[in-house]
Amino acid sequence: MNDPKIIVALDFPDSKQALEFARKTSPDQCRLKIGKELFTSCGPTLVEELVNSGYDIFLDLKFHDIPNTVQKAASAAARLGVWMLNVHALGGSAMMQAAREGVEIVAQRPFLIAVTVLTSLSSQDLKDIGIDRSVPDLVDRLARNALANGLDGVVCSAEEAPALRSSIGDSALLVTPGIRPEWASTDDQQRIVTPQQALADGASYLVIGRPITRHQDPAAALALIIESIA
Ligand code: C5P
Repeated sequence: MNDPKIIVALDFPDSKQALEFARKTSPDQCRLKIGKELFTSCGPTLVEELVNSGYDIFLDLKFHDIPNTVQKAASAAARLGVWMLNVHALGGSAMMQAAREGVEIVAQRPFLIAVTVLTSLSSQDLKDIGIDRSVPDLVDRLARNALANGLDGVVCSAEEAPALRSSIGDSALLVTPGIRPEWASTDDQQRIVTPQQALADGASYLVIGRPITRHQDPAAALALIIESIA
């Protein structure tokens, strides 16, 4: 079965640009990620439209709430037919178990993954909120707890992938943003890894946005990246 490794981040303000992009590519080539901006402005209608066009959708809403609320939200996402969704591992074990139960209401449940520590947070930020651990240490702890509570994997930076692979095993999904081909601008990403390197380091799927979506020829940019990892 075709299993596209690239998840294109549809970081657009409205559905017009998102649908235009979806028409230029195909579900054989990539999956699509819908995040908070696009979902807040376009809602579930756009998700359904893209699912009906055959695309696998990663709904990146990072749920973090009481278990009952997260369970209901996860069920709602599963009913939309998304391929993958995520929650914050900091929501705790009961919340992650509830999310897992929530996605199981459909026959073919979506993958459920966890965000560990946001890459925007430093060890000092963790101290400020009362957590006296280094970022890598907390990432590892949260990832192992996510897997122990039935999640399928984690979102992580590609730089964290080798350590996480040895810690949580080969079957866990590692979904990595912060990916840049050599020819692309780094934009605001601080620590970047090429698509080839990320896969070699153990990533399962690569989240890539602007190098493709802001390229003058998005389909050609996507094709170049696919070729580079073939
Ligand atoms: O355009 P770019 O490739 O930088 O987009 C990366 C995508 O991955 C964005 O949607 C961004 O919000 C998301 N992301 C990230 N870093 C994280 C988690 C998610 O860049 N740690």
